[in-house]
Amino acid sequence: MSQIDLMGLVRANVKELKAYQVENLDEGTKLHANENPYPPSQELLDKIFQRLDKLELNRYPDPDCRNLKKAIAARTGVLTEQIIIGNGSDELIQYLMQVLCNEGETIAFPDPTFAMYGITAQGLGLKPVSFPLNDNWDFKAGPALEILTEQKARLVFISYPNNPTGNCFSDQEIQQIIEQFEGIVVLDEAYQDFSGKTFLKQMEKHNNLVILRSLSKIGLAGLRVGYGIFPTLLAEQVNKVRLPYNSNTVSQWVATELLNNFTSVQNQIHSILDERNRLMDELSKFPSITVYPSNSNFILFRDSKDGVFNKLKENGILLRNLSSHPRLKNCLRVTIGTKQENDQFLNQLRKVTS
Ligand SMILES: Cc1ncc(COP(=O)(O)O)c(C=O)c1O
Repeated sequence: MSQIDLMGLVRANVKELKAYQVENLDEGTKLHANENPYPPSQELLDKIFQRLDKLELNRYPDPDCRNLKKAIAARTGVLTEQIIIGNGSDELIQYLMQVLCNEGETIAFPDPTFAMYGITAQGLGLKPVSFPLNDNWDFKAGPALEILTEQKARLVFISYPNNPTGNCFSDQEIQQIIEQFEGIVVLDEAYQDFSGKTFLKQMEKHNNLVILRSLSKIGLAGLRVGYGIFPTLLAEQVNKVRLPYNSNTVSQWVATELLNNFTSVQNQIHSILDERNRLMDELSKFPSITVYPSNSNFILFRDSKDGVFNKLKENGILLRNLSSHPRLKNCLRVTIGTKQENDQFLNQLRKVTS
């Protein structure tokens, strides 16, 4: 029987890490994970059932995801050689760091932002550095560039729109970063379908730009599909570290269908945007609440009353609690749900804040 010191074998940077934690509810209204509240269309579900027995699940998936890349190329106008599919865009964040940073080197991001940039960096033994957002959750390129240069950052991650604040940063400031930063700028456009804004065109002029997108927010969170658009040269390097068959057969097939027949998803996006505007209006009527503008499928708000998150949770409404971040005391993030879910949320919120 072996009884070795397991923790003694674990790398120090991993021991220090706190795992990315997401609360969950078995039942209730889940408005915490920025998912699409609507299931795939009946038409797509029927196609999946019909197709399942022809998918040869005993075989490995297409390692190059050719059909999915063609669908993405057709929608974005980029070359298939520029595209890499990830098991969620999270995977691509890790690959970028793996390819571009040696141990101990720096990656940067604004703060507050998506937690996985920092967690992934630390897990790889890199140094995460942040530059603070101002009170409008925006930044100025000048001071950000100073930090990037001083810290010799190799990569800067810009969530556009930003999770969890919900807004798009000023285009002008991002443009200046793209033009002046001597490293890779990753525009993480996971919520682009809701913002309608992108820096994709800039890739024609600047070779230091990478765009990440996700299908998790528009209906396929359970299948884990994200993609990156890279300068071809960089895509070739990322492909060297990409795990073989990282995107499975079912995910590739369903994602291809969804992108090639986008109308029903587009209708869902419109409904989510309508509901977002309604929820914004309703939330701003609460005297104790400050609502922040959103270009996403979620809204950040601050409630001056304590304990709202737990009270909502006890009543079956799960939001994302951001209070542990020093800049986000009493802040909650609500994902836009169906009209019914949003009404349930608003009703409970009225009860717990009254
Ligand atoms: C800004 C941002 N980037 C990336 C991701 C990861 O998305 P995926 O599900 O594609 O891994 C998320 C998920 O919440 C996100 O908010």
